[in-house]
Order: sequence, then C-alpha cells, then structure tokens
Amino acid sequence: PIHQREYLSNGEMKQWDGEVSEVYSPICIPGPTGLERKLIGSYPLGTEVEAMEALAAAETAYNNGRGEWPTMSVDGRIKCLEKFVYKMVEQRDLVIKLIVWEIGKSVADSTKEFDRTVEYINLTIDALKDLDRQSSRFEIAEGVVAQTRRSPIGVVLCMGPFNYPLNETFTTLIPAIIMGNTILFKPPKHGTLVHYPLLRAFQESFPKGVVNTVYGRGANVTPGLMATGKINVLAFIGSSKVANDLKKRHPKINRLRAVLSLDAKNAAIVTKSADLNIAVAECILGSLSYNGQRCTAIKIIHVHKDVADEFLKLLSEGIAKLKYGMPWTKGVNLTPVAEPGKPAYLKECIDDAIANGARVVNENGGETVASFVFPAVVYPVNAQMKLYREEQFGPVIPVLPFDSIEEPIQYQIDSPHGMQVSIFSTDAEETASLIDPFVNLVSRVNINAQCQRGPDVFPFTGRKDSAEGTLSVNDALRSFSIRSLVATKM
Ligand code: G3H
Repeated sequence: PIHQREYLSNGEMKQWDGEVSEVYSPICIPGPTGLERKLIGSYPLGTEVEAMEALAAAETAYNNGRGEWPTMSVDGRIKCLEKFVYKMVEQRDLVIKLIVWEIGKSVADSTKEFDRTVEYINLTIDALKDLDRQSSRFEIAEGVVAQTRRSPIGVVLCMGPFNYPLNETFTTLIPAIIMGNTILFKPPKHGTLVHYPLLRAFQESFPKGVVNTVYGRGANVTPGLMATGKINVLAFIGSSKVANDLKKRHPKINRLRAVLSLDAKNAAIVTKSADLNIAVAECILGSLSYNGQRCTAIKIIHVHKDVADEFLKLLSEGIAKLKYGMPWTKGVNLTPVAEPGKPAYLKECIDDAIANGARVVNENGGETVASFVFPAVVYPVNAQMKLYREEQFGPVIPVLPFDSIEEPIQYQIDSPHGMQVSIFSTDAEETASLIDPFVNLVSRVNINAQCQRGPDVFPFTGRKDSAEGTLSVNDALRSFSIRSLVATKM
C-alpha cells in the first residue's frame, strides 16, 4: 500500500500528521464478508486551513501578475514544463500501476492514458510556440501601433474526474500552468494516489507556489475557496451539479472564468439504412470502453424500428464476445467499475426500466459479482424510465425504437445535455440532412463512428449543461489566457 503523508504547498513537500482518507481498490479480494475492495493506501484528508494556505501561496506566486512565473518568458516557462515531463516519465510505471489499482482501468488503457498525457503535453508545447508567434505581433490602426500577447489570468482551481485521473486533470492543469497562471490542484477522490509520484516533479520543475495541492473532501474544502472570490478560473471536469454549486459560491460569479466539462447523455442514432455491423461495433466501443465510465460514452441508442430486432441481436452477440477480467488480463474489455456505489445504482436503473415495461435483451445482462457488472442492453426504453435521461456512467445500454427521425431530434432538443451524437447511415443524402439539426444541438456529430474526445488537437466542448469553454491542445491555451496588448501612439 502507498500511504501518502505529504502534500505540495508553497514550493515545499509538507508533512501531514492529521486525519487520512483510506483508498480501496475496485479490485476485490476474498475477505471476512466475501469479496471485498482491497485497501491500497491512504492520503491526507486536508481541511480548509491547508486549502487557504495553498490559496495564499498561489496568490503570492502570482503577485497580481508581477510574480516570477506570470512574468517569465514563454521560452522560460516551456523549459520548466520540459523538465517536468522528463521527471514525469521517470515515474511512468508507478503512475500506470496506480491508475490500474485505484480505478480498475485495464493495464492497456492505463498505459494509453499515461502516454496520451505525455503526448498532450508535448503537443501543448508546440502549440504554445505557434500561439506565441501568432500573438506577439504588431498591429497598426488609426495611428496606433499595438503589440499583442497572450497573458495569464490569475489563480486557477483545477479539479479532474476519476475516470481519467491523470489525463483529464492534466488537460486543464498543464495549459493553465504554461500560460503563466498559478494553480490550486485538487486530485479526484478516486485517483488521488495517481498524482502522488508526480508531486516532487512539480516541486522541482516550477517556481515556488506555482502548483499547490489541495486534499480533503471536496464539500469541505472547495466551497470555502470559491467563497473567497480569489479564484479567477474554475477548471473542473466532473458533474454539472458540483460545477454549478461551486460557481454560485463565488461572490463575483460574472468575473469568474469557468472551463468545464460536465454531464452528458450522448445518443447514437441508427437509421434504417445503417450498416448494422459498423453501428454495432462502434456502439459497443462507444458504450462500453472503460465500462462506459466516460463522459463521451454513448449513453442511449435510438434505433429505427424496422432494424431494431436485427440491431439488438447483433449488439447482444457482440457483447457476449467481450472479455471480462482483472485489469491485467490480456485483451480484457471489461473490468471492475470504479465507484463503490455504482453496481447498486445500475441495478436500480435496470429494475426501474423493467418495472416500466422494458427488458434486458442480452444474456447475463446486468449480472453483478463484487465490482464487476456485466453489460445490460435494456429495451424498449421510454421517457418514464431513469435510463431515458440520467447519465448512467456505467455498462448499461438503453435502446429505444423510433419511427420518424423527428423523434431522436426532439429527444436532443429536450435534453439538458449537449455534448455529442453519433449518426449511423449509409445514405449520403440522409446523413447530410441530419448534420445541421444535430450540430446545432451538440458540439460534435460523429458519422458512422462512436462518440469520443480525441484526437486531442480537436476542440472538445459541449452545449447546455455539458460544458463551458473549450478544451483541446490549442483551445485550452486560449481558455487559460487573455489576449492583451501594449498600444503606442505613433
Ligand atoms: O470522460 C470524458 C473523457 O473526456 C472521455 O475521453 O473520449 O477520449 O475517452 P475519451
């Protein structure tokens, strides 16, 4: 087990001797009460006191934009980040192991998460060089010469989700740092230890106070931070409810910049002309990669009634071929789900659907052993059921039939979410006619392909309750800076 008793604040690795939070893996082992989650470590259960100290450190380092970091040249900042990547890569094996054990992600996907993050940082460095070249230019108009630049914003509170504890956290943290801001960084509840091996790398790579960690229960430490009014940017990837609650705490909410990636209920639309083999393969990938615990997962499928039976048959057959096992099993597709309450919640959703007239179509669908949940295809789903609107964030696939394409369009119009849709059709005219209605309701339309965030150079955002601001290698640099200028009268 890894018992973390240190945290990074104001350039120091401080010792912690207060209360701790124990970390239990979704990977279960036999225990006195049957299969039990394995204890794999613990971390400081920080309080508002340390959170406020971290805030003071970040503010001092920023020093109203006059600190060493916000005034450092772009080249200087890039050198610090390169040093960080070098040190981060030295911790690769341990970080991957911690992703596997803390959130039950397969070794292959955990490795991909680490390597994708390194790639993301390297792409960010290249993008920053480009942005700096474009931004630092002279503009002349009406007798004034202006030299423009991208400037930092201030103190950023960064919080990432459990499902990509490293990668998604870093998609805000890294651009926020490199644009010259100073950071309060609270790791996700499941996925905290993942960051422990990297704290020294932060400490040794950036000036004092640029990166400060915040530990403890979110509800105890983050509302107070927001209420100070000293957080300039809230960078949060997680639930819409938490984001809205946090924003409301800020006394000057209209001054707060928010970069958010939140709840989503991405729909797949399988039309009558769809190539069902492609649709099934992509829907399985989209719904069940990492057990459906992705904001970009396909979370409901509308299938044309004329092809529904065939689609459900192929979908069930495809799911039956998936490999189940521990994260280190070769070629594994389905692993234990990360959150302790998830199996019970998914059962509740399935029971509710059955009580309202649906059935589980595939063999063994919804069966649970310890923290494993076998995927369930639930059909036909209707508006009375939880699965119709709630984001299940797990291996349950609600499917509903449609007659007219207006039905899935209306579903999306009425939805509080607006991240992505996938359209499956082999009819070019039909596909073209569906792009406009959907692209103005969500932020990405996927044609004959699953929903997903990558490639990371593509913009990543959402409408309605699904996002605020835009992430991606290029957009994030803009999200964490403002365009400012020095104007001289000629
Ligand atoms: O959980 C939300 C992630 O942004 C999903 O990313 O589509 O690359 O798996 P992904």
